[in-house]
Amino acid sequence: MLCLVPRRGALPPDAEAQDPAGVSGPRKGVGSLALPSRERSRFVCQSCGAVTPRWVGRCESCGGWNTIVEETVERRAVAAGSTRRVAFVGLAGETDPPPRTATGIAELDRVLGGGLVAASAILVGGDPGIGKSTLLLQAAAALARAGRRVLYVSGEEAVEQMRLRARRLGLAGGAETGLGLAATSNLRDIAATLEAERDAALVVIDSIQTMWLDTLDSAPGTVGQVRACSHELIRLAKTHGFALALVGHVTKDGAIAGPRVLEHMVDAVLYFEGDRGHQFRILRAVKNRFGATDEIGVFEMTGQGLAEVPNPSALFLAERRGNISGSAVFAGLEGTRPVLLEVQALLAPNAGGSPRRSVIGWDGGRLSMLLAVLETRCGLRLAASDVYLNIAGGLRVTEPAADLAVAAALASAVSDRPTDPGTVYFGEVGLSGEVRQVAQAESRLKEAAKLGFATACLPRRVARGNRRPASPEGLQLAEIGHLSDLVAQFAAPG
Ligand code: TYD
Ligand code: MG
Repeated sequence: MLCLVPRRGALPPDAEAQDPAGVSGPRKGVGSLALPSRERSRFVCQSCGAVTPRWVGRCESCGGWNTIVEETVERRAVAAGSTRRVAFVGLAGETDPPPRTATGIAELDRVLGGGLVAASAILVGGDPGIGKSTLLLQAAAALARAGRRVLYVSGEEAVEQMRLRARRLGLAGGAETGLGLAATSNLRDIAATLEAERDAALVVIDSIQTMWLDTLDSAPGTVGQVRACSHELIRLAKTHGFALALVGHVTKDGAIAGPRVLEHMVDAVLYFEGDRGHQFRILRAVKNRFGATDEIGVFEMTGQGLAEVPNPSALFLAERRGNISGSAVFAGLEGTRPVLLEVQALLAPNAGGSPRRSVIGWDGGRLSMLLAVLETRCGLRLAASDVYLNIAGGLRVTEPAADLAVAAALASAVSDRPTDPGTVYFGEVGLSGEVRQVAQAESRLKEAAKLGFATACLPRRVARGNRRPASPEGLQLAEIGHLSDLVAQFAAPG
């Protein structure tokens, strides 16, 4: 005989709510029988966090292959009958700024917006081997030296390895008595320890991808584990008032391994970037609930760990050779901080086929646009050449203000005439070749003057409201209205 009772899994979870009177017959029986609180599984993309009801080979949300993993979720009813009411307050009123603890590493404090905020969570992301553990160990030791208690939990390295690193960094002097090291990845143990901890100022978890909670079946590093472990650690940080630093490795495509979800859970996200072939490292805030997000800190990886670089321009320009065509100095801005950088362009005859455009440290699309403007509006012949563009020092520039410096480097390379070594360039270029104003001209000029530059090529004021930026002493301003004026400087004889 045919049975009309549907299979258990075939019912939507809230079927009973949708059909309270049970008018559809057999459903009522099943609804009252099943689904009180039980484990179910769902399928989560490890790269974007999308959830699908069944396993698929390719994530429909981000397009990743083989990224879907089954995870168990515990279903619990939302506690009913809460008598607590949420209190709303008005916009007016005083709130004290959050208490901060300076780590003693000025470049790190600058990025954090003035130091670590108590009861907050920060995520430090970056490629493996870039120096995250080194930075955090140095910060932990500096805090400990200042008399604060710091706990450093590593799921990646043994205590002996951490001690070796500390010795290499010159940190094992005995003044860091408040620093506790531990090697474990068992989050249950860590949580129990932190629950009893009363006076830690900072807790470092290195890395969140190695942490593991035994209530979940999934492996360490999966979205579920990372999310559950972070959630528990952040809860502890909020209740016990310590600052929590989570280390996260970054996948090839730039997402913090798998779970971007983590970025939403923490108060600040700092990325540690750099080219492993170069010694410079940039610490960049991409999210900060307690400060500006456009700050950077600059470090140099040395044999004794990370050294702060208070004057990055001098470092980035240190290896510049004068009198070579294809090089121009860009007066850039990283956050609120002016940074001078060398832009290098090289043209090579194309051996056949479509010409190459190769860019390191800048946007390829922007280079193509600039080449088209130089060709169409300024009459430079570039179509038959391979073009290579490089921002020296391993820094990545995202500002459109670099257009003028790139154009100068390209024009210099085409004409084989060096740019004036005492000149800096900044300005955005539009499609008709006009040079446009950019933000914070004055701090760029100040930095150029500080480093001994004599001339700055910058956009001409067009609108009447545009104030001429104050020129620091000793710096000449050369205003450029159209890109062809710049190109003409390289074409002129002498
Ligand atoms: P590490 O902090 O372990 O990187 P992450 O935690 O981001 O994976 O940094 C490791 C690299 O830094 C390694 O390649 C060696 C180099 N390093 C130095 O050059 N000098 C030093 O003093 C230290 C400790 C590391
Ligand atoms: Mg590490």
